[in-house]
Order: sequence, then structure tokens, then C-alpha cells
Amino acid sequence: MEEQKIIQAGKIASEIKKWIRPQIKKGMLLIEIAELIENKINELGGKPAFPVNLSINEIAAHYTPAHNDESTAHGLIKVDFGVQIDGFISDNAFSLDLENSELNKNLIETSKKALEKAQEKIKLNSTTSEIGKTIEEEVSKNNFNPIVNLSGHEIGEYDLHAGKTIPNFDDKKNEMIEAGLYAIEPFVTNGSGRVHDGKPSGIYALIGDRNPRSPIARQILKYIGAEYETLPFCSRWLVKEFGAKALFALRELEQNGNLYQYAQLIESNKGIVAQTENTVLIKENGEKIITTD
Ligand code: CO
Repeated sequence: MEEQKIIQAGKIASEIKKWIRPQIKKGMLLIEIAELIENKINELGGKPAFPVNLSINEIAAHYTPAHNDESTAHGLIKVDFGVQIDGFISDNAFSLDLENSELNKNLIETSKKALEKAQEKIKLNSTTSEIGKTIEEEVSKNNFNPIVNLSGHEIGEYDLHAGKTIPNFDDKKNEMIEAGLYAIEPFVTNGSGRVHDGKPSGIYALIGDRNPRSPIARQILKYIGAEYETLPFCSRWLVKEFGAKALFALRELEQNGNLYQYAQLIESNKGIVAQTENTVLIKENGEKIITTD
């Protein structure tokens, strides 16, 4: 683990959080918000670790604007973005209430508190379930539900979801926290506490290298491998690089087994969802570094 690169990725993420937060207003195009963040990551010397997710209300995760997206910011919006430097990642999210809603504010405050408590709890030789239990207790205390089938995760080099899972409830698995990099992300809802798959998201990851038939699909596959390696990317980025023909290539690559396309994740009871996320580095000597704050 290259500690310096992890810390630098976190610094960039922190700076962007502070910078973007006051700019997000109700009615702003989501594509504008996504591009502001993604461009700023590049400007500060990082790369997006995945497309900026801007999921609203009952969409818990995996909404990124399409190239021609006309949706605008409203409701409870979750801004989930990642910064990577040579594959060393910082994964972050914050939520904003754009409606001046008491419910939205309470959901957001609860997910922030749950994250704070989880950050205190995580340490060498603590267990993943203890952290989940802490999150669950904080959320239940506020009469909301944690989303049980979304979780924090260990992060590896060029690997956003590696190894261990940090649950948002006491899953009784009691895996030991070892030295490593961990994203903690309490998702809080007034709904059922589960998500199901919604529409295709336009977010993809590379999963196979079987040669596709068409030259454009082959060209784009090569580009994806070089540019994103195994990290998620989106159709919007490829349309920008190759034009609309990228959309046909993506379909072919998905059918050919080269790409996995993520689904949008929807709260099963149409509850509103808030999320807060930070990345924490746990070192061999027990030191804990909250890389984004
Ligand atoms: Co994450």
C-alpha cells in the first residue's frame, strides 16, 4: 500500500467536498455537477476512481448522468465520488437536502452520526460486525433503518470492492479488521432498509477480454483497459471520447461478456435514502488515518 498516494487521494477528495457543496443548488443539471467534480479531480492531479454518482431520494446508489441527461438536482441528493492516484483510492460521499425538509435533514444527520461512531469504532482487531452494530444502533435510535444489503468495503489497488465487507448492521460474521483501507458508508432510510435493482445505470466495469466482432468495439475495449483498468466507468465518458457510436460498442461489449453493467439501486419501499462515506486507513502499527474529512 502506498500510503502517500492514499493520503493524497483523500486530500483531493476533501478539498472537492468543501468546494462543491455550496455550489449544488436545486434545479442544477446533474451532468453539470458530475462534470464539475470529475474535472476538478483531474485538475488537482487525481483521476475519478468511478463516475460521480448523484442518486436522488429513493435511488440509493448508482445513478450517474447519461451524456444527454436532462435531470436536475432536487430532493435528497447523494454525492458519491472517488479519487484515485495510480490505483490508490479514496471513496467518499455526502448528502444534501435541497427541499428544506425536516425528514431529509434527519436522515442526513443520522447517517453522518452513524459514520462518526463507526470511525471511532474501527481499529486493528475490531470486528466488522461490531462496526455494523454501532451503525445499526445509531440509526435505530433515530427511528430509521440502515440499508442492510448495501455495505462499506475494503479497498485494494485498482479494486474498489476488495476483501472484507463493513456491514450497516450486526451481520454476526465477526471478521477481524486487519491493516488495510476501508470505506465505511452508512445508508439510512425511512423505508424498508433494503434495495433492489432498478434500471441499467450506464456504469460498467471490465470483466473479460474475449475479442469482440466489430472494430469500434475492439478499439473501445482497448481504450477501457488502458484508461480505467478494472475500475468502473460510464457511457457518458465514452460518448465524450468516441461520439454516439460508443453506445453501440458498449452494447456489443456487454453482450460479448467483456463488460458488466451495474443496475441503479432502489429502496424497496420507495423510502428516502441518505448516505455518508469516508475512507479509513488502518496501519500495521494500529495507527488510524481518516483519509477524507
Ligand atoms: Co464506497
